[in-house]
Amino acid sequence: MPKPEIHVFVCAQQRPAGHPRGSCGEKGAASLMDQFSQKLIANNLMNKVSLVPTGCLGPCRAGANVLVYPGGTMYMDVKAEDIDQIIQTHFIGGEPWADKVAPDAIWQ
Ligand code: FES
Repeated sequence: MPKPEIHVFVCAQQRPAGHPRGSCGEKGAASLMDQFSQKLIANNLMNKVSLVPTGCLGPCRAGANVLVYPGGTMYMDVKAEDIDQIIQTHFIGGEPWADKVAPDAIWQ
């Protein structure tokens, strides 16, 4: 297996309904994983990009969240319709797609 150039961590945390923090799981994280996978295959990126489901990344209310390394770019409020743009702009083009990048304030 070639060493991936990009690691994509999709928050798959699931919490019970009504939990005060909510979760990315209740915002469609499982579907995001499936669709990222299909689109990475369709763009022939499986040798370049490693897709990893992960636990809570922190800013739950902003989810569904996706963290990309190198660079530590956090995408927030990610929906299925955003995946093509993230792939084209970031994974192929090499620059984060600013429209969905979390503001620095989210880390404070
Ligand atoms: S549940 Fe996804 S960031 Fe916390």
